[in-house]
Amino acid sequence: MKLTLAIFGAFLMTSVVSGAEPVSEPFGKTKDGQAVELYTLKNSTGLVAKVMTRGATLVQLHVPDKDGKAADVILGFDDVTGYESEDNQYFGCTTGRVCNRIAKGKFTLEGTEYTLAINNEPNHLHGGLDKSLDKLVWKASPYSNEKGQGVKFTVTSPDGDEGYPGTLEITVSYYVPNDTNSISISYTAITDKATPVNLTNHAYFNLAGEGSETVLNHSLRLNADNYTVSDDTMIPTGEIAPVEGTDLDFRERTVIGKRIESIGKTAAIGYDHNFVLNAREEGKTMTLAAIVVEKESGRRMLVMTTEPGIQFYSGNFLKGQKGKGGKTYAHRSALCLETQHYPDSVNHENFPTTILKPGEKYESKTTYTFEIEKPEPAKN
Ligand code: GLA
Repeated sequence: MKLTLAIFGAFLMTSVVSGAEPVSEPFGKTKDGQAVELYTLKNSTGLVAKVMTRGATLVQLHVPDKDGKAADVILGFDDVTGYESEDNQYFGCTTGRVCNRIAKGKFTLEGTEYTLAINNEPNHLHGGLDKSLDKLVWKASPYSNEKGQGVKFTVTSPDGDEGYPGTLEITVSYYVPNDTNSISISYTAITDKATPVNLTNHAYFNLAGEGSETVLNHSLRLNADNYTVSDDTMIPTGEIAPVEGTDLDFRERTVIGKRIESIGKTAAIGYDHNFVLNAREEGKTMTLAAIVVEKESGRRMLVMTTEPGIQFYSGNFLKGQKGKGGKTYAHRSALCLETQHYPDSVNHENFPTTILKPGEKYESKTTYTFEIEKPEPAKN
């Protein structure tokens, strides 16, 4: 009997996780009639992620709290119609071809001037209008191995789409390992003409669960001694300045609400800044970029990346729209930690380059890991 139970238990474990490919379900149709699929990734330690083919988007991310109770910690909608609505502010999507801003939508490359859409006056933002990567329906290939499961999304952005040069072939893979509550997002791209590429994911996190009132009670540590100084239109001036003595100093863990009133009076109207990550440790391929903690739930999120920068955005434009299950997404009720190259790099020679050339391969990886932070023992 015991043996039968043990065998059945082992069968259950393996059927839920290792070896099993993620399954999909319909998630609705886009306005132009394209069917969108939602894939479920899960592991044996309580993490469940859902990703959809529109925009290679992270739609749900359930992680346990200190009592083992899971909650979805990212903002989103119940179907593709929500994602196509005015209320969607890049929730969980793959953002590009070039995330963040390009000054006045202009850049010159190999002697040619290119003009992009101005969709964030007076600048270009997050890859443009209807052909930006978040709005395309990607092809999905689910996969699994003995260590975990994933979905690889692929899309081709034709030469000239949104004004960018070159046919760009992009892959984005979401991967959930069996035994750790983490999700990795890996990107690749190749081109047939020199072109700028800067890809990120735009998930909005609230570690108390999406729909919770605020993110100002979360604490944040950023592994960044410096940031890129911006003008009033959020375009870097080119100066890289120390965070020391500014509202941007998150070198020590700091409650997000502590200085938000003061930074809220600037042009950024809150946190919406690119931080220059400190050099990664020798021999390591990824840098610990950020740690976020929400005390009540005990959830702690670690962000590791191969990228040189991270945009910390405190949800300043969230406007009380209705999201999943009719929940309200209030002003500053979620935060984004967008790992990336610096904004407007294509117009700044002193920034790490975002230019991808034929024959080269763009590669980038970010991992979000969820842990439980034990309360500190009471001092007597
Ligand atoms: C990024 C930008 C913000 C805002 C959001 C989307 O984080 O830096 O200014 O545009 O995306 O609303």
